[in-house]
Amino acid sequence: MRIDVVTIFPEYLDPLRAALLGRAIDRGLIEVGVHDLRGWTHDVHRAVDDAPYGGGPGMVMKPQIWGAALDDVCAEGSRLVVPTPAGRPFDQALAHAYAEEEHLVFACGRYEGIDQRVIDDAARRMPVDEVSIGDYVLVGGEAAVLVMVEAVVRLLPGVLGNPASAEQDSFSAFSGGLLEGPSYTRPEVWRDMAVPDVLRSGNHALIDRWRRDESLERTALRRPDLIAALPEDSLDAHDRAV
Ligand code: ADE
Repeated sequence: MRIDVVTIFPEYLDPLRAALLGRAIDRGLIEVGVHDLRGWTHDVHRAVDDAPYGGGPGMVMKPQIWGAALDDVCAEGSRLVVPTPAGRPFDQALAHAYAEEEHLVFACGRYEGIDQRVIDDAARRMPVDEVSIGDYVLVGGEAAVLVMVEAVVRLLPGVLGNPASAEQDSFSAFSGGLLEGPSYTRPEVWRDMAVPDVLRSGNHALIDRWRRDESLERTALRRPDLIAALPEDSLDAHDRAV
């Protein structure tokens, strides 16, 4: 997979080269390009924004500069992703879908956003998604790109040491759309608190049942919306009792 990011703050994307993502680059599992949008300006001020038509606060990013940048960075087979609080929600299903793409291009807007014609024009040539990572407003799309790229890249074959850990995550198909329950390691007692007996019982059927119950309880408490969204037949009689 190739990932390109266009931004006015290229250094903000430096963490892409650290830790898990950096190792994926070093091992040739992904290629990453970060591009300074100002490289496509021609004026002495290298201006990328202008006042909004119709008035109002803030500035809008200029279409000519974004158009030229995306013409250069996008190619046959690219998918353009534009982070914006006005986008469709990013979730684990979208992360899995993006993990199948050959080329993701992220266009980071700042200020009040990018002139809409840039997005509409790109959509004439390639798939384009406007995507939000949550119901809050960031200063720009850069932090959202870091979040999305990390969620996608860890799903690529060979990136995680143990592929089972991706399967067992909260929100994955493995856990049936429930949140993961609590985890424990040694010591057995820490600050007067003991690890639940069942986890030391060696009885794997009991342990699985306990983990499922903890998942259900936690999900019901923290994310009742996820329980409501479960298919009818995904809860057994014991689950309903929990
Ligand atoms: N840019 C600003 N806020 C954002 C959000 N919540 N998600 C994605 N991009 C953003």
